[in-house]
Amino acid sequence: MVVIITGASDGIGAELARQWAQREGSKLSLVLAARSRDKLEAVAAECEALGARTLVQWCDVEDQTACQALVHAALGAFGSIDVLVNNAGMSAHALFDEVKDLAWYQRLMQINLWGPAWITQAALPAIKASRGRIVAVSSLAGLLGIPGRTAYSATKFAMTGFFEALRTEVASHGVSVTIAYPGVVDTQIRYRGFNARGEASGHSSMDERGAMSVQTCARLILNGTLARERDIVMTTKGKLGRWLKLLAPSLVDRLALQALKREQRPQ
Ligand SMILES: NC(=O)c1ccc[n+]([C@@H]2O[C@H](COP(=O)([O-])OP(=O)(O)OC[C@H]3O[C@@H](n4cnc5c(N)ncnc54)[C@H](OP(=O)(O)O)[C@@H]3O)[C@@H](O)[C@H]2O)c1
Repeated sequence: MVVIITGASDGIGAELARQWAQREGSKLSLVLAARSRDKLEAVAAECEALGARTLVQWCDVEDQTACQALVHAALGAFGSIDVLVNNAGMSAHALFDEVKDLAWYQRLMQINLWGPAWITQAALPAIKASRGRIVAVSSLAGLLGIPGRTAYSATKFAMTGFFEALRTEVASHGVSVTIAYPGVVDTQIRYRGFNARGEASGHSSMDERGAMSVQTCARLILNGTLARERDIVMTTKGKLGRWLKLLAPSLVDRLALQALKREQRPQ
């Protein structure tokens, strides 16, 4: 099985690679993509120790050429693609009326939507040939508009819409599309995310104590992908919120606003 994971240098993507290698061992060929080559090499070494073959590929998902090169490198090394996991992503936290320049909103859309779109376009012929799987790591913020996250929610709603539509288009080719919706997971994503000025925030404005472990999140994604599940909605709050939004949308708005008030003010 040949699996491409973007954002494999850290967090959910790195843990997914390790768990996949643990489960499939020598039956697995992993293509690990991100920008931090040293971190990718370290993840690759762990996966190889578990028996997997690996290819480390530098890829900035903001760059269309690099996205296409990732797919070409995977095919060059392993000859086919069974699974593409579009996991690389960035977060952001800012109140919209405190943002002066929206240029970083466009960058976030490039990272969270356009990168996955470019890679998926390049990989689709190979995934159709293998009757494979496409995975999109969205977010609960791609199901519910979260105050303080206009940019992030917009990119994840876009991702959700793109991959839901694609799912129906490719189903007759035997290709499944699984969309994962994690809640708050214990990674560095909020520390790296954009603040109102479009800089790395350097801190999390959330109470991180209730965060899901990265191991649990990766396990849910791996199981859901192998089972070709449509959606992996994580946390009870996420599952309830999805239905509550249909039944009592203004209640969901109030709960979201209360959560925003509990957070440290975005800076
Ligand atoms: N953690 C959460 O609470 C949470 C919740 C919901 C959804 N998610 C989603 O889960 C995915 C993974 O998040 P995470 O929590 O694991 O974040 P993370 O620990 O910050 O890891 C992000 C990964 O994406 C890569 N990446 C970031 N920008 C990139 C770019 N321009 N080009 C290529 N790779 C890039 C990073 O690698 P390099 O820096 O080396 O490039 C890293 O490997 C994201 O799509 C995120 O939106 C996370």
